[in-house]
Amino acid sequence: MRYFTNVHDLVSLEDALAKAKYVKANPYADQVLGKNKTLLMIFFNSSLRTRLSTQKAALNLGMNVIVLDVNQGAWKLETERGVIMDSDKPEHILEAIPVMGSYCDIIGVRAFAGLKDKDADYNETIINQFIKYSGRPVFSMEAATRHPLQTFADLITIEEYKRVAKPKVVLTWAPHPNALPQAVANSFAEWMNETDCEFVITHPEGYELSTAFTGKAKIEYDQKRAFEGADFIYAKNWSAYADPNYGKVISKDREWTVDSDKMALTNNAYFMHCLPVRRNMIVSDDVIESPQSIVIPEAANRTVSAQTVIKEILLSL
Ligand code: CP
Repeated sequence: MRYFTNVHDLVSLEDALAKAKYVKANPYADQVLGKNKTLLMIFFNSSLRTRLSTQKAALNLGMNVIVLDVNQGAWKLETERGVIMDSDKPEHILEAIPVMGSYCDIIGVRAFAGLKDKDADYNETIINQFIKYSGRPVFSMEAATRHPLQTFADLITIEEYKRVAKPKVVLTWAPHPNALPQAVANSFAEWMNETDCEFVITHPEGYELSTAFTGKAKIEYDQKRAFEGADFIYAKNWSAYADPNYGKVISKDREWTVDSDKMALTNNAYFMHCLPVRRNMIVSDDVIESPQSIVIPEAANRTVSAQTVIKEILLSL
């Protein structure tokens, strides 16, 4: 595998989950694989989990790691071709990318959706430029439309906690003060549609995601009805996808906050969220602190998903 940006880059989910299980049980078994190989992690946006878990994964594989925060200490990058560069951005990404590629063997990129230009976001302009111009294998550490390392960790976690062969998994929108990308929700839907679960998405009207990601998921506008009998509740905020409101916050309705009354409707469901989470906006304190909350093991599995992916890329070099 040379590139990892979505679920279809894997041979199969079954194969990936088996490999992840091995990696989790044997985290230091492949230390020789990454010897004298360098991972460059490039962040256009902030991160706690992705930064630490991906670095730990690379260290477990014996790699060297370089981290670049593009907006802190590096030259500001112009990303549009054809612009007259008389602004505050002294370097063009089309020179910067091959230069960065010359210093490493594998590149991880975090570049969120700008939420201003839907076409640019949904064409994955930034990560595709890295794929085209770096000359190196590239993997997503959350791009404009997907967060595959997160969703892989989510799926590993669901596999570990599920009590029935075909669990009911509910992705619920929840309120947030700011406009957030659709990437985590898109990715979760894309991967869940590849599994044998009963998959339901619930959100207020106006928050419909792209059908390219929601696929065969059942869309239920009544959150309480969606929660009935659920085995997993996956909460996430996203901004509107549909025009004319693309990238906008059109509701902050705290009636959609996940609380213990709603969790009582479920089949003693586990609560999941990718973190960071806004308490008492997305989820109440008592739910996230309850024994049914598995947000910490979910975050811990980010090392497993990253290590499994980087290992597959190293094997392709
Ligand atoms: N879930 C996740 O990607 O966390 P960070 O934004 O902190 O990396």
